[in-house]
Amino acid sequence: MKPSILVARAIFPQVLTQLADHFEVTANQDDVAWTPAELTQQLQGKQGVLTMGSERIDSALLAACPDLKICANMMVGFNNFDLPAMTAAGVLATNTPDVLTETTADFGFALLLATARRITESEHFLRAGLWNRWRYDLFAGAEVHGSTLGILGMGRIGQGIAKRGALGFGMQVIYHNRTRLDAATEAACGARYVSKEELLASCDHLLLVLPYSAQTHHSIGEAELAQMKPTATLVNIARGGIVDDAALAAALRAGTLAAAGLDVFEGEPQVHPDLLACHNVVLTPHIASATQSTRLAMAQLAADNLVGFLRHGKALTPLNPQVLAA
Ligand code: DGY
Repeated sequence: MKPSILVARAIFPQVLTQLADHFEVTANQDDVAWTPAELTQQLQGKQGVLTMGSERIDSALLAACPDLKICANMMVGFNNFDLPAMTAAGVLATNTPDVLTETTADFGFALLLATARRITESEHFLRAGLWNRWRYDLFAGAEVHGSTLGILGMGRIGQGIAKRGALGFGMQVIYHNRTRLDAATEAACGARYVSKEELLASCDHLLLVLPYSAQTHHSIGEAELAQMKPTATLVNIARGGIVDDAALAAALRAGTLAAAGLDVFEGEPQVHPDLLACHNVVLTPHIASATQSTRLAMAQLAADNLVGFLRHGKALTPLNPQVLAA
């Protein structure tokens, strides 16, 4: 008998077809937003689930879904997983690293350019019919090439952004990370390690690429924003909650920070109303990894993890490999 799995969100039809070769599949192609109770209900009798970050997997759900053996997140981030609870319950967790690194780094840079060079703000102005002639200071923004790029969180995506900045735009790249990179990796990225205080005070553009956890919650709040140059821009492609969005909106309104580019938000898809009211912020709906080929590669990797584990006892990208060993 084939194992049963749930694909909790809408997904590429061809990936569903592949999964159906191996599993009894319950899909959610209408992309219904299930409550935790509905998700628990849908998971009854399922050995695996493909999740996308909107599905919280915690001890209450695990206790109510005793058949569950693997949760395959179609994301590199996994802050929707209570990993210790999953490990304790013997449930394998997987994510989708690597396949989205370059695409996400591209987007980080795109958001930085759009923010510093005021691209969306000026387009709104043009579309509103307000443009009547060239002016010396019309939407004059901040320089990107040759400026100082600060990166908070220096994993694979941070390193990709550093290379783009150093090699493509001649930027001085500084970074801060929980763990300092080895000298060879620093050299390959053209990046210099600094304290968080120096990072905040020195950079012209700050890119946030660190994972979300209780420890990184509000890594950028009122105190950190106050340490940044008033001419600086802030770009968050990491996770909502890393920035205190209310404090950020206050800084943008007060002009103590020049501009922000945000792809992720506290409590998304809700966006803090004060951010919506700011003209000097570029807002995008969590699309940093959204190219057709990268999203397909992410879906494929999540599916391969389900097939690998439930059919062959192996997984490509386990987050709690202790479960595999057991
Ligand atoms: C991830 O994979 O964690 C991203 O946020 C999705 O784009």
